[in-house]
Amino acid sequence: MNSTQSNDPTLAPAWARLSDLAIGLRARELRGLFADEPDRGPAWTLEAAGLRADFSKQRITGDVMSALLDLAREQGVLAKRDAMFAGEHINATEDRAVLHTALRLPPGATREVDGVDVAAEVRDVLERMADFADRVRDGRWTGATGERMLNIVNIGIGGSDLGPAMAYEALRFYSDRDMTFRFVSNVDPTDITEALRGLDPAQTLFIVASKTFGTQETLTNAKAARDWIVDALGEGAVEKHFVAVSTNAERVTAFGIDVANMFGFWDWVGGRYSMDSAIGLSTMIAIGPGRFREMLDGFHAMDEHFLRAAPESNIPLRMGLIAVWNRDFLDIPTNAVLPYAQFLSRFPAYLQQLTMESNGKSVRIDGAPVDYNTGAIYWGEPGTNGQHSFYQLLHQGTEIVSCDFILFAQALEPVFDMQDMLAANALAQAAVLAFGRTAEEVRADGTPEELVPHKVMPGNRPSTFILAARLEPHALGALIAMYEHSVFVQGAVWGIDSFDQWGVELGKAMANSILPDLQDADRPLDRDSSTDALIRAYQALHAQG
Ligand code: F6P
Repeated sequence: MNSTQSNDPTLAPAWARLSDLAIGLRARELRGLFADEPDRGPAWTLEAAGLRADFSKQRITGDVMSALLDLAREQGVLAKRDAMFAGEHINATEDRAVLHTALRLPPGATREVDGVDVAAEVRDVLERMADFADRVRDGRWTGATGERMLNIVNIGIGGSDLGPAMAYEALRFYSDRDMTFRFVSNVDPTDITEALRGLDPAQTLFIVASKTFGTQETLTNAKAARDWIVDALGEGAVEKHFVAVSTNAERVTAFGIDVANMFGFWDWVGGRYSMDSAIGLSTMIAIGPGRFREMLDGFHAMDEHFLRAAPESNIPLRMGLIAVWNRDFLDIPTNAVLPYAQFLSRFPAYLQQLTMESNGKSVRIDGAPVDYNTGAIYWGEPGTNGQHSFYQLLHQGTEIVSCDFILFAQALEPVFDMQDMLAANALAQAAVLAFGRTAEEVRADGTPEELVPHKVMPGNRPSTFILAARLEPHALGALIAMYEHSVFVQGAVWGIDSFDQWGVELGKAMANSILPDLQDADRPLDRDSSTDALIRAYQALHAQG
């Protein structure tokens, strides 16, 4: 393990400087920062890969930014970045490389890691995926009865679901509208039941997506789907109606899927970083290999920017450092993701796994406990819907929430001037959050005195505004890569392993031990009194069903 990977950021000289700067900044407001710096908007805006990121409404100053860049230097963030791109085993607790950036290299590129050209391996899988996707899309791949596959059902969970489900929604405009795409993840039986409702088995193709091919929810749903196909079309239909995406060929074979119908990836792709690997097969079938390539190019453009742009103009670096600033120095515990694009309705959920499974850690790589805050809570909903729901708390609540606004300038499906209305709302919300409305301004409107305190908008609530031309595959790739690298920067500053997820294992193991107890009321129970009583109550209610 590289000792710089586990260093305590609070010991870095810049940390103390940032703590002092935070005290000074608490007394300053965004109104004042904008007054002091007349061109603050453009001055704090960076552009790359077709995205424009305006950080001016974050509560930062030039001094803060330069101290944050010093912190990045002192924590070796750029060296860690280079180590990631070079394929070093920066996922130390799992002893793995972290090479999702190799998934989106341009067609002719090479990337040698441990004597293997991983770019060539990626290319081979992409070619197989493209061949398969084309055959499904044009009807050459038929089901057991010779019919075209019109329904694609992706079965997976976590990174094997959230990415594909989000990308399908995000790029639905470019999808083959004659086809139906559904996503099954939950072991709640209603999920698979509802997903299969109304589908003709003869026209339905299942993609069983699981990196490990050992995930209970996915294998159980896949078994239910298999029974559904076998009941309708017979055992022999399985090979035409099931394909797998996994790193584990043995388990795929054991499940009964021919490895000829398996699309592989590698242990150096984390589940939450895998939507641009074979896990994206449903995306490729939906939008076609050409558009999928455009998405990969968008990812790659942001990768190149992160790798090569100067620290001062590097979007993911700035974004990640501001996230550290908000979390550790301004004590802001949550970050709302507010896409002003209905097609990005699943984007906040996708980002929850990316950010919170990556940086929800409380020990550093060397196992030492942290005594500072790490990953923020990410959540969100598309605007304008959120405005009519939780924005009240964003504007006047006692908890400060940092917000990411995401807006596209061009409507994919123009109706009247609705895109302009959408944009006006996004811009208005970001401005009101930042600048608020003082009591004097409220009074000047003729507001009755007793209502003045209720109508005061405190402002000084930070946000970043991401603007792009149009929700295209390229823009989606760039947007996701921006967040991936921002997450990386945060983890690198905090000295944690952003690429493991040990915290999810204990609950899985306990569920496996509770299941037989739930199913046999005669088994003695010896857990805590709450769990034992809930088991008995569940059994009693279940028996009445
Ligand atoms: O339980 C968490 C997790 O391991 C995620 O990291 C992963 O994306 C998900 O489960 C699904 O795993 P798999 O693709 O192996 O089924």
